[in-house]
Amino acid sequence: MTRFRIEALKYFKSVISCLYLCAGGFLLKKHRPLLKMIHDHFGISAGPKPLIPKITIGDLLGNEVSLKLTEIDAVEGNVVECELLVIAALIHQSEPGVCFEIGTFDGRTALNIAMNQPPGGRLFTLDLLRSEINTTQLALDKAEVRYIDKPASGSRFTGHHLAHKITQLYGDSATYNFSQFHSNVDFMFVDGSHSYEYALSDSRTAGKMINPITGIILWHDYDSPYWPGVTQALNELYLSDPEFSGLRHIENTSFCILTKRP
Ligand SMILES: C[S@@+](CC[C@H](N)C(=O)[O-])C[C@H]1O[C@@H](n2cnc3c(N)ncnc32)[C@H](O)[C@@H]1O
Repeated sequence: MTRFRIEALKYFKSVISCLYLCAGGFLLKKHRPLLKMIHDHFGISAGPKPLIPKITIGDLLGNEVSLKLTEIDAVEGNVVECELLVIAALIHQSEPGVCFEIGTFDGRTALNIAMNQPPGGRLFTLDLLRSEINTTQLALDKAEVRYIDKPASGSRFTGHHLAHKITQLYGDSATYNFSQFHSNVDFMFVDGSHSYEYALSDSRTAGKMINPITGIILWHDYDSPYWPGVTQALNELYLSDPEFSGLRHIENTSFCILTKRP
């Protein structure tokens, strides 16, 4: 077959596939990432544009990484597999003794953080009780109620042999008393509510909690079409608050990172 015919056939098949995707193929979950790819590729976005400078995963972690992974398969509400790998490698490499997570959900990130901490490391993870959905201090994003309304937090680490490294805390991140952790946290993962108000409040909380010389903060859901509030809040902090001017967006993930380490 000539090169022209191969390319023409590719074009024809792509057009048919696009028609199928738009006519109803999107109803199947497995096809939906294609919509996101098209959306991202053409930059059609009603939400805030990402402004934070990017770094590659290699810039952050170097060329060779070591890590351990467990509970690899993601469900809706978890970080995706590639992101899990980045957190695990980051923890393995930076060896944070005290970690704090806002937003436990099923405990998949909590367990993987604990697994990669040095021996003796501790992880604290805060979650909102389903009974508090209607009494939070700030507005939640309506779409996230399904992650809050679950029978139990941390089901993936319950009964696990590393569960003793994890302390489950309950409360609303806007009103929780974090004072005992101020300046004491080596690694903070912000993945709680995705509303603009919470993203801003949790980020400021994280800024107070991390060790001012060696601390690291990681955020999830930056530049996500589903959670514009996170992008808006982080853009705003990056542009207006010198404490957050070192924020970086990790390429091919929805993570942002701020590290106090040289
Ligand atoms: C997207 S899930 C976290 C996913 C998890 N880090 C993982 O990937 O394994 C968000 C979590 O934040 C919690 N959350 C939402 N609003 C909160 C609040 N105001 N305070 C504390 N936790 C909150 C929800 O209950 C939910 O478990």
